[in-house]
Amino acid sequence: MDVESQYVLQNYARYPIVIHRGKGCHVYDVDGKRYLDFISGIGVNALGHAHPRIVKVIRDQAALLVHCSNLYYHEFQGPLAKKLTEISGLERSFFCNSGTEAMEGALKMARAHGKKISGDKFEIVALDNSFHGRTLGALSVTGQAKYRADFEPLLAGVRFVPPNDIAALEQAAGARTAGIVMEWIQGEGGVVPLTHEYTRRARELADRHDALLVFDEIQCGVGRPGAYFAYQLATPAIMPDVTVAAKPLACGLPLGVILANAKAAAAIGPGMHGSTFGGSALACRVALEFFDILEELLLHIHHVGSYFRLLLNEQARKHPFIKEVRGFGLMIGVEMEIPGKQMVLDAMADGLLINCTHEKVLRFLPPYIVTEKDVDAAMKVLTKIFARQKPA
Ligand SMILES: Cc1ncc(COP(=O)(O)O)c(C=O)c1O
Repeated sequence: MDVESQYVLQNYARYPIVIHRGKGCHVYDVDGKRYLDFISGIGVNALGHAHPRIVKVIRDQAALLVHCSNLYYHEFQGPLAKKLTEISGLERSFFCNSGTEAMEGALKMARAHGKKISGDKFEIVALDNSFHGRTLGALSVTGQAKYRADFEPLLAGVRFVPPNDIAALEQAAGARTAGIVMEWIQGEGGVVPLTHEYTRRARELADRHDALLVFDEIQCGVGRPGAYFAYQLATPAIMPDVTVAAKPLACGLPLGVILANAKAAAAIGPGMHGSTFGGSALACRVALEFFDILEELLLHIHHVGSYFRLLLNEQARKHPFIKEVRGFGLMIGVEMEIPGKQMVLDAMADGLLINCTHEKVLRFLPPYIVTEKDVDAAMKVLTKIFARQKPA
């Protein structure tokens, strides 16, 4: 910690623990203290830590080929793209290394799509309270002033509208709109789901104005909601033109993806986009193994998530300072009337890692392999913490 404080850019407010290793749903710090990990690297470690099948493919592949650049083919990018097509209903993949990069590429896609139609079709409609990443493009569509203020002016032509306000969306979208961007369940914004009615209307408006509908599933997708993608929770699914994903894809190795239907994919031609590291042999092989395992976990995610929400709702009935329990699958938020920062520290002292977003929303993103027994253990800590709180 001392060395970091001298030499690392001071942009993170880290918690004072040094994590040494992990196994399943637990991590251990350098002093050997065990923590139940209910944040899983902000939704990255979907299979927990040191999953035996992931460890094995990393070992095997690292000894064969880690990276060969996108100048050449390797054996895993094509099959991974095929798998993603099958589970998403979209047609083409572009691989990158992070969420913000995937968003950046999706914005370029929307801009290029618009430009093909007309020179002034470059606007993006995005939502208040959203989070799409830290690079300048992704930041430009992030609807939270605290992330944007120090870097303005950002990309021109972004119109922000409140989530779930259909009239505002109808007003903002028009002939100049190249893309409409939203998270199906806003993550950093406090685990706020969009309504099916709203996303269906967004689909209709994108069609009417020939704009690309982009769903950011970086936090809310890839199994976490108990479905492969959150947009599949609606029946019938509300299909985007483009979806972006990252976090859990390669179980901790950096991998992001843009998934596009034929119309959106047609906007990007040879030489228009690229990545040196994106879609390495190692990351793609790990992601293929992950999807193999995920198939059998989706129902489990749904069941354990429901169990967890049930117990949290019991707490909400006991404690009026808990306003709402929200979320799907294993993406769960507890909105409170009081700040959650100290609760996160108290939970950590009691061996439970959780997170607070939007100041008053406790956020839980446990690994997909979490069991009801793990949930009981987490609830034991949380019940104690909730009982100590004084109403606002
Ligand atoms: C919904 C959403 N979009 C984009 C991002 C940015 O992803 P990354 O940090 O991998 O760049 C995040 C990260 O938390 C996110 O939650």
